Amino acid sequence: MSGETILTSKPSDGILEVLKYPDPRLKKISEPVTVFDNDLAEFVKILFSSMRVHDGVGLAAPQVGVLKKVAVIEYDGKSYVLINPKVTDQKGIQEGEEGCLSFPGIYAHVTRPKWVKIETQDLNGETHTIEGEDYTARAFLHEMDHLNGKLFIDYLSNLKRNAIKKKTAKHTGGHF
Ligand code: NI
Repeated sequence: MSGETILTSKPSDGILEVLKYPDPRLKKISEPVTVFDNDLAEFVKILFSSMRVHDGVGLAAPQVGVLKKVAVIEYDGKSYVLINPKVTDQKGIQEGEEGCLSFPGIYAHVTRPKWVKIETQDLNGETHTIEGEDYTARAFLHEMDHLNGKLFIDYLSNLKRNAIKKKTAKHTGGHF
C-alpha cells in the first residue's frame, strides 16, 4: 500500500521555489514524518538540489511549502538529512552571523549553543545520534527551528526585528 505523497506535484526541472518571509507557512509547526517511502527519498533529493541551486547551506521542508519535519544541510563537504530531529544535549555558546534563504540578503547576529547532540531518523526511519560543533551546530539548530515555525529573526530584539520586517515588506510588497 502506498503512503501519503509528500510532494503533490514534482517540479519539472527538479527545483522547488523557496518561500520568502512573511509567507505564513514559515511560521507553522511541521508534522512528523511517519511514512519512509520512495516519495520521501525523492523529496529529499529535490530538497538537496533546490538548496544547491539557491546557494544555501541548509533548507527545511516548510521553506518549500511542505509542512513535514525534514531538512537537509550541506556544509564543509558533509551532507546531512534530518528527519524528525530533536536536540538531546547541548553545550556552550557561540556568537555569529546568520542568514536564511527565506530572507534574501538579510543577515543578523544570533547567539546559539556551541555544540549540540541530536537524534534524527534517516530515509529508512532508523534513528541516529549525530553531533555538530560551531557552524554545523548553528546549521542544525537553524533548520530544526524551521520545522517548529521559528525563524532566526525571532532571536533578535524588537528594534532589529522590526527593521528587518520593514525591509522584507519593501521587497515583497507586503503590508504590516
Ligand atoms: Ni533558514
